[in-house]
Amino acid sequence: MEVERKLKLLTEYGTKAALECQPVDAFRDEILQVSPERVDAWKQLLSSIASTEASEELFMSPVVRALESQAVVFDYLKVHQEDENRHHRLLRGYVKQTFGYERKSRSLASRLFYDALLPQASELTGKRYPLTALAMIYFYEVFSKYVYGELKILAERDGLTRLVKLVEIIEKDERRHLAGIETIFGIYQENVRKVDFRDLYLTRAALLIARIDLTQKPWAFHNRKLRERLLCLGISPDRWEECGKTAYHTCLGLFRGEIPSGSLS
Ligand SMILES: [Fe+2]
Ligand SMILES: [Fe+2]
Repeated sequence: MEVERKLKLLTEYGTKAALECQPVDAFRDEILQVSPERVDAWKQLLSSIASTEASEELFMSPVVRALESQAVVFDYLKVHQEDENRHHRLLRGYVKQTFGYERKSRSLASRLFYDALLPQASELTGKRYPLTALAMIYFYEVFSKYVYGELKILAERDGLTRLVKLVEIIEKDERRHLAGIETIFGIYQENVRKVDFRDLYLTRAALLIARIDLTQKPWAFHNRKLRERLLCLGISPDRWEECGKTAYHTCLGLFRGEIPSGSLS
């Protein structure tokens, strides 16, 4: 079957990417030219993104278990999960080696969302409504595509050449992830069942929570610090908000069978 062959190919690419990736200690920059304010913003923002990558890995576990019986899908998802773990380790390592910083604790809002709410939501939907859980993963993948794109431009501006390289490696993986989830969506509907109204309602509700997590609207008290860091680095909170909206609509488009072109280049 054509789609299964594509997924096998993506799994192979993922396995190869893991083998070819340079070790964590290969990513370190000199920061003498970067102002102390920006150093602080960089280390905090990258630490937050590293935590989100780790949460993505955990968040995927119920879906991986739910789709265990479909070998091709399972093999792909395991590699995808390992990629997220690698992204976490690479970013955390970069922050430690470049800024001498290691985040020991996270905010209450972050712990509530990523350690309690998100895993619970994933556990609930993963088994009975894997399409919703897959859509949530897809939402974060689409959003991360924009975030890494912005980070690369800013890292270039600050002369953080190894960070640029690191982001390029991650971006390549994320493009593969988009293609992977799109393919699994098709395989699931072909082999198990078609999307129905429950998937759609549940997904809308789940995506609303994800958007609240990321929002940069003035009332978003939980993202106040993030907003300061984005502004310090030169990322417009409005642009961030716009990216969340685009990710939301792209994600719902999956349910209408609209696969965006260029996910994997
Ligand atoms: Fe990732
Ligand atoms: Fe990803």
